[in-house]
Amino acid sequence: MSKFAFIIHPISLEDIFRKFNFMRKWPRPLVEGLIRRMPPLKVSEITGVASPHASTSGYFVSVSMTSDQMVNLPAGYTIKKIIKAGKHAEKLGARIVGLGAMTSVVGDAGVTVARNLNIPVTTGNSYTIATAMEGVERAAKLMGVNLEDAECAVIGATGSIGNVCARLMSQKGVRYLTLMARDKRKLEHAADNIYRETGTSVKVTSDIKKSLPRADIVVAVSGSEDTLVEPHDLKPGAVVCDVARPRDVSVSVAQKRDDVLVLEGGVVDVPGDVNFNFNFGFPPRTAYACMAETMILALEGKWESYTLGREISIDKVEKITGLAKKHGFKLAGFRSFEKAVTEEEIEKIRQRALIARQ
Ligand SMILES: NC(=O)c1ccc[n+]([C@@H]2O[C@H](COP(=O)([O-])OP(=O)(O)OC[C@H]3O[C@@H](n4cnc5c(N)ncnc54)[C@H](OP(=O)(O)O)[C@@H]3O)[C@@H](O)[C@H]2O)c1
Repeated sequence: MSKFAFIIHPISLEDIFRKFNFMRKWPRPLVEGLIRRMPPLKVSEITGVASPHASTSGYFVSVSMTSDQMVNLPAGYTIKKIIKAGKHAEKLGARIVGLGAMTSVVGDAGVTVARNLNIPVTTGNSYTIATAMEGVERAAKLMGVNLEDAECAVIGATGSIGNVCARLMSQKGVRYLTLMARDKRKLEHAADNIYRETGTSVKVTSDIKKSLPRADIVVAVSGSEDTLVEPHDLKPGAVVCDVARPRDVSVSVAQKRDDVLVLEGGVVDVPGDVNFNFNFGFPPRTAYACMAETMILALEGKWESYTLGREISIDKVEKITGLAKKHGFKLAGFRSFEKAVTEEEIEKIRQRALIARQ
């Protein structure tokens, strides 16, 4: 059976402390220095991925660096560590490797990593885009929001995922769209592209805090290591699909705002009796869409670097959606801050938002 591997990393030091509690008392710089010197590690074996057409198994391999380190240490250093993890995956017998969380964001989004490995690499971003869009459409419907009339925003709209999400939203008829990120020049370039593709004129802003309170629908997909969305930034009834890892939306939104719907983007049901043998905070048999893309490619025997770099074609998003359906992957139920959200709860949020708006 041909195997896959997926590269993960601790999102923050908290992930390290959960495993090595005694380190909590140590000075942070000491812990940070220690972990980033650790070699790549096989974290667990993933078994039982089975579609009606094929089956596969794989490994989680860890790069021992936090998101903060990945963003703030020189990209070359981080990329070397990711390549080492990829080589480790090769030795384990993987025929394809997926890049998780910030390992797909640093540097050139997997291009250099792929060039230095003998097996194909994918960021998983094509399927992440597909599931984020599907999630937004389903959630908007339940909250009674018509996407064509809604104020929509994409945070991280010049990024590999955010840019395609923005283009797809415009193609689906969204008329009021604001692209958000830090670099104004890149934002204007993205807006020009959308105008050329769909004839829709979209707004751009680097002042997220100012524009966010107007948004009915937010796709949050920045590469920021810090949260960008706080409780007071959202209007009653807003639907936020938080695709970013680490999250863009502060957990305090869950505590302080019961009139907005914040969903985790890209949570997928995996076919078969899959066991990840590792707890990444999801219910059994569910995974991130980027992990799922790696599994889909392994099941299909498509040993190619499917999604790399920051230019993702809509054609690839559509093709991976078709392959996902063929192999029995589908969007899981809604989740918010690591908890399941039922349609009844969504209805209650909608009612509270109606009252808050009066
Ligand atoms: N849930 C999943 O299954 C899944 C799968 C893949 C990736 N992801 C996550 O999705 C996120 C984006 O990935 P990507 O590959 O699209 O990254 P990317 O190509 O690097 O794009 C990042 C975007 O965020 C913007 N940005 C970065 N820092 C920012 C800040 N502090 N404030 C505002 N905007 C900021 C960037 O523009 P500027 O630099 O101009 O600000 C850019 O538009 C990451 O968190 C990644 O871990 C999740």
